[in-house]
Amino acid sequence: MSQPTIESILKEKRLFPPSAEFSQTAHIKHLDEYQKLYERAAADPEQFWAELAESELHWFKKWDRVLDWQPPNAQWFLGGQLNISYNCLDRHLTTWRKNKAALIWEGEPGDSRTLTYAQLHREVCQMANVIKQLGVKKGDRVGIYMPMIPEAAIAMLACARIGAPHTVVFGGFSAEALRDRLVDAEAKLVITADGGFRKDAAIPLKIQVDKALEHGVSSVDNVLVVQRTGEKTHMEPGRDHWWHDLQAGVSGHCDAEVMDSEDMLFILYTSGTTGKPKGVVHTTGGYNLYTHVTNKWAFDLQDTDVYWCTADVGWITGHSYIVYGPLSNGATTVMYEGAPRSSNPGCFWDVVEKYGVTIFYTAPTAIRAFIKMGEHHPNARDLSSLRLLGTVGEPINPEAWIWYHRVIGGERCPIVDTWWQTETGGFMITPLPGATPTKPGSATMPFPGILADVVDLDGNSVGENQGGYLVVKHPWPGMMRTVYGDPDRFRRTYWEHIAPKDGQYLYFAGDGARRDETGYYWVMGRVDDVISVSGHRLGTMEIESALVSHPSVAEAAVVGKPDELRGEAVVAFVSLEDGYQGSEDLENQLKEHVVSEIGALARPAEIRFTDDLPKTRSGKIMRRLLRSLASGEEISGDTSTLQDRSVLDKLREGA
Ligand code: WT7
Repeated sequence: MSQPTIESILKEKRLFPPSAEFSQTAHIKHLDEYQKLYERAAADPEQFWAELAESELHWFKKWDRVLDWQPPNAQWFLGGQLNISYNCLDRHLTTWRKNKAALIWEGEPGDSRTLTYAQLHREVCQMANVIKQLGVKKGDRVGIYMPMIPEAAIAMLACARIGAPHTVVFGGFSAEALRDRLVDAEAKLVITADGGFRKDAAIPLKIQVDKALEHGVSSVDNVLVVQRTGEKTHMEPGRDHWWHDLQAGVSGHCDAEVMDSEDMLFILYTSGTTGKPKGVVHTTGGYNLYTHVTNKWAFDLQDTDVYWCTADVGWITGHSYIVYGPLSNGATTVMYEGAPRSSNPGCFWDVVEKYGVTIFYTAPTAIRAFIKMGEHHPNARDLSSLRLLGTVGEPINPEAWIWYHRVIGGERCPIVDTWWQTETGGFMITPLPGATPTKPGSATMPFPGILADVVDLDGNSVGENQGGYLVVKHPWPGMMRTVYGDPDRFRRTYWEHIAPKDGQYLYFAGDGARRDETGYYWVMGRVDDVISVSGHRLGTMEIESALVSHPSVAEAAVVGKPDELRGEAVVAFVSLEDGYQGSEDLENQLKEHVVSEIGALARPAEIRFTDDLPKTRSGKIMRRLLRSLASGEEISGDTSTLQDRSVLDKLREGA
């Protein structure tokens, strides 16, 4: 008897094939070509990745063995030696790319900087030399706590260059969150800035580092401070150093350290719903290859592209697809310090117009915010340079997808909906835009070399269109290697949830999904968020998408609350488009809308109107908090990743 899985109720049928024009110049041009690649990779993943490692990366020494797999521990390209900063910089300097723009940066107040590959290389070498002077050696960890300025990328590459694993802590995190991460990683040095610009104000950052180190973090000896805002900043004598002072006298040459393929490249903390954050460990060779190839194929990176990923470098998206992936490919990557704000709601579109951005990658939460701000903002700019759009972070509601396609993409740009995680290092399920017809709300099919499946708790594949657990059946080069300092937690969290099947270990990191009759994957949300109504297990995404397809709804989050009759009842938190008011009448309309879109089973028992939903600092809706609110419980567990506390307070008052 198989275990209960998740039921699927969404009926999205629209199909968007790539245009002939796009496919013609794409790296992967036909669905056939994808399928052949996929089959070849599935038949012999090691051979597939080895060929790419050979053709796409520079190795100081070739590997002896492609893969060592002792579940759950994988090692890739054993005996191979390389340096990712060499692959991102040095190897381009002997080509015409030497004077190509590597990094285009736009500051929030309107200042800007462009660094060519040669200039970026020089600055990275200088910072690497400075870090060495401050006593950091190969293997020592370095904390990076920065605003979105070029020095954030420079610091990462400088660490990689000397073999010092970095741990980037998002600049919006508190002093306590920073402290926890520095302690866990036993960082020796912190690289920060005096502050950064956010929503038209200078936000101090260094002061948070001071607080984090107040009671001493024994491992930290030095703090390197980049001047960004010029605000008055306390400098602790002997500990704190201005970057511009040390940069002045230092050489712009620094050989890249020879790293073993499995040497640690970085730790990136990801917060679970409970418990302390997990330090996700990525290593050098596999991560370099995986981010390189996924970025190249899924974003169809060409030398003429101006590529902009709007994430912060503090998230994996920034690591893999602002810094390492694009630079390894010799692409031009755009970095923007600001965010849409009331004084300038159209600032993103100004950046697209100013630099002629061709590829634009953002998150559903941002897209829903653009919709709410109104399409007159993008419509007032020239977005004709765009040729490809991407989305990541959550399942995208089909209506938001259609808006993105129509308003931002001018109905000509393919959309790549990339499903992946901090843990996976890079894209796992994604269209290849010249090959894969897309369906709004589906991340489509696995990347070549990724053996995905949808299974029940016993590890058996579920049928077509049946919901289940999204798993990966074979190791891939970009996968996380362990939880820093806690290998046991690595095993428990990702490898023991689903029973190993015939001795085969399945990677599971918490999402529910279904595969449709054409083999397309539909991610249904985190399984922790599943709602159980009268024995039917419903994913959150489908009900939310039904709500968002109503013209009045800007954003929706659904949760279950205990119900004697049905086990759980659906409670929906809904924020409305401008010009709509919450009312009993609208509440009834929305309930009926859900019934007509997906059926009576999903009918919300209750709808609560709210201006905002509680989100993490990376923009994900925190349904766990809404669940507590809906059932009238105290909010427990970690709330340190909450973006704006006042949202919760308002929701509580309204209850
Ligand atoms: C979780 C991972 C990976 C970069 C940003 C988030 C959700 C991510 C999608 C997508 C549906 C998605 C999943 C996943 N997610 N992308 N395209 N469609 N869900 O990284 O913070 O590690 O979060 O984000 O639930 O497990 P992360």
